[in-house]
Amino acid sequence: MDNESIKINTLLLGTDEKSIDKAAELIKSGGLVAFPTETVYGLGGDALSADSSRKIYAAKGRPSDNPLIVHIADTASVYELAAVVPDKAKDLMEAFWPGPLTIILPKKDIVPDETTGGLDTVAIRMPSHPASLDLIRKSNTFIAAPSANTSGRPSPTTAQHVQEDMTGRIDAIIDGGPVGIGIESTIIDLTTEIPAILRPGYITKSMLEAIIGTVEIDKAILQPDPKLRPRAPGMKYTHYAPKGKLTIVEDKTHPGEVTENVISRINSLISESSDKKIAVLTTEEHVKDYNTENIILLGNTKNNITVASRLYAALRECDTIGAELIYSESISRDEFGGAVMNRLLKAAGQRVLYV
Ligand code: TXA
Ligand code: MG
Repeated sequence: MDNESIKINTLLLGTDEKSIDKAAELIKSGGLVAFPTETVYGLGGDALSADSSRKIYAAKGRPSDNPLIVHIADTASVYELAAVVPDKAKDLMEAFWPGPLTIILPKKDIVPDETTGGLDTVAIRMPSHPASLDLIRKSNTFIAAPSANTSGRPSPTTAQHVQEDMTGRIDAIIDGGPVGIGIESTIIDLTTEIPAILRPGYITKSMLEAIIGTVEIDKAILQPDPKLRPRAPGMKYTHYAPKGKLTIVEDKTHPGEVTENVISRINSLISESSDKKIAVLTTEEHVKDYNTENIILLGNTKNNITVASRLYAALRECDTIGAELIYSESISRDEFGGAVMNRLLKAAGQRVLYV
């Protein structure tokens, strides 16, 4: 990135009307504004401006072949951006928008190649967070927004996380408090004969199938294999990895459950490396079970949404305390749990210790 953008003074804004007006002015004049959505914080710029998209890549330190999601505030906008809008897209929009679902469709020329990383398709999403909807409407354009983290770090779920990564690199941050869901939107590709999930999220396969029938999951997500190339370019990059070495400890006979076996193995791993700074990622039920003071809380196992909403903050905390070794309980792979586990496995570089 150039020196000019490093010197930017990043404004911290609220979600009141004056703040959103200011943020919308910045977007219109080609600036970058981070804003809350119901999933994670986004790093927004004018989606119809090639220059704004280039600035987004520079601020994130992200490869420019990795396309951006275009955020809209009403369904009519889809017809301005997409060359074809099949019935299945209409049905999904009706069922899940505004909300955490991104739909991939063939793009119209109005969408610059810079925004779609050179692809002839465009990813579109209508977020449900009121601040994002206000911002899009007032900007009088569509907003391209990747997650507002620097490339390779966990997606931000609070304005403080955005400040850690983006201060001095963008014009403003809208602080809307902690987000609700905590992991990124589900991505569905409707440009192929059989619709395909390219990234799992809060809207699950069975929720989608209830509306449009058979949906497949991109094989490269189910089976992390370097030979399979994920259809969402962003899924190929290592993501979310904390600096310390993260290992998931799982009971082979009770996957996703925190059994005595899991607890005693983690405790023996702790005592084996007493010279190292060790952190344990655990759920409410088990905070007292481990022999270390570095307990990082994920949420409650009975409710995976609480785990999702804490996951990225927990991974950032591992870095803040300087953890060298991190052990985590595993998460049940029921539908939404599977989406959360997908992120945890990526953070662990797929490292699972079976007991
Ligand atoms: O929840 C979310 O979706 C958040 C909030 C801010 O809306 N955004 C987000 O954006 O997660 P980002 O840029 O971090 O992830 C976008 C993903 C990447 O994996 C990218 O490769 C994929 O979407 N993607 C975007 N456009 C695509 C396209 N035309 N075809 C295939 N994949 C696409
Ligand atoms: Mg991201």
